[in-house]
Amino acid sequence: MVKNIGYIVLIIFGVACGSDKEDYVPISQNPELAFTIPSNFPEPSYNVTLNPPTEKGFELGKKLFYDGRLSSDGVISCGFCHIQDFAFTHHTHIVSHGVDGALGTRNAQPLHNLAFMNEFTWDGAAIHLDLQPIIPITAEVEMNESFSSILKKLEEQPEYVTLFREAFEDQKINSENLLKALSQFMIMMISSNSKYDKIERNEGSVFTANEAAGFELFTSKCASCHAGTLFTDQSYRNNGLAIDPEYNDIGRNRVTGLTSDLYKFKVPTLRNIELTFPYMHDGRLKTLQDVLDHYSDGMVDSETLDPVFKNTDGTILGISMTEEEKQQIISFLKTLTDDDFVNDTRFSEF
Ligand code: HEC
Ligand code: HEC
Repeated sequence: MVKNIGYIVLIIFGVACGSDKEDYVPISQNPELAFTIPSNFPEPSYNVTLNPPTEKGFELGKKLFYDGRLSSDGVISCGFCHIQDFAFTHHTHIVSHGVDGALGTRNAQPLHNLAFMNEFTWDGAAIHLDLQPIIPITAEVEMNESFSSILKKLEEQPEYVTLFREAFEDQKINSENLLKALSQFMIMMISSNSKYDKIERNEGSVFTANEAAGFELFTSKCASCHAGTLFTDQSYRNNGLAIDPEYNDIGRNRVTGLTSDLYKFKVPTLRNIELTFPYMHDGRLKTLQDVLDHYSDGMVDSETLDPVFKNTDGTILGISMTEEEKQQIISFLKTLTDDDFVNDTRFSEF
């Protein structure tokens, strides 16, 4: 538990000593929450000063996240597709399904360390975390709802009326505050207590021989894209998946229109990867073994295939690895699992 204290501690600022907030007349005390950057993490991309998480804003964001009222059938909440036990992915679902069982085309992404990401979704369609939820809320195959209808539903709930009043200076139930509250909840979802983190921060953990060998292999074969402590360089790449005729998902090209972006997807973080199966943007690979088999033997050539996967003579595709090396990489990847995060009751529905 001691490990969590760093970012559990609340700064009891509130109005009592926050002189910059003089004209804010709160309905009740609404202390700011400490947004603590883990010492092995980079600076956040999210401008926390523009939407500082507060106790009430976070509580509101969490309530909204788990509320089916954000969908047209009253059932599909954010938490329906983003389940904490699996690092907020949609466990067992290859592609997500939403209102009336409608199928999407993509695998739900994990939600953690979002404050450190520049763009969101597999193709980067959302350029700010505050705007991201507009996509699932309004998508027919996800929540299939409109903001005006949601706001009407929320206005009828005394609990929401109170929470919005307590959480925001203008005290209004509107889309902006709704989105800000969701962001306050999501930026607090930091996963930084895996075995790997404890090793990186010299907190006394050590790799087993297999994990250490795996880390070395990973560093030379994978870390050019799955880079740094977030395990993504946040670029868009084509890692040689065969085009799926059912979805023909063109990836980043959908956003930029550039031919050079066809079939490129955001390099995903690998934190909690043991929990977030199935893998890839369409969930086509079931296990980590399948993923490594893809990188060694399953790659398909195309115009936009990342050059790192092509040998200089262009004949052999992929990353060569022995069976033993694959097992070592998998052992290493499992050190990225953060049990504290998936069990952290601050983020749990109940
Ligand atoms: C029907 C299932 C479903 C629901 C409901 C849903 N999501 Fe998602 N979520 C997904 C899928 C699938 C993706 C990947 C989308 C893509 O790449 O186009 C995603 C992506 C995201 C991302 C981007 C993560 C990243 O690393 O880029 C965020 C943030 C997110 N969802 C938050 C939410 C919030 C907040 C809600 C509720 C308002 C919500 N989601 C509702 C399935 C869902
Ligand atoms: C050239 C960049 C690049 C390299 C090198 C690379 N990857 Fe990836 N990786 C990607 C991209 C891009 C995706 C997402 C592809 C998609 O879904 O279309 C991905 C997806 C994955 C996933 C699935 C993640 C998820 O959330 O579904 C895993 C696991 C993975 N890579 C592990 C590895 C390992 C292990 C190596 C080294 C053996 C490696 N990658 C090398 C770019 C790369």
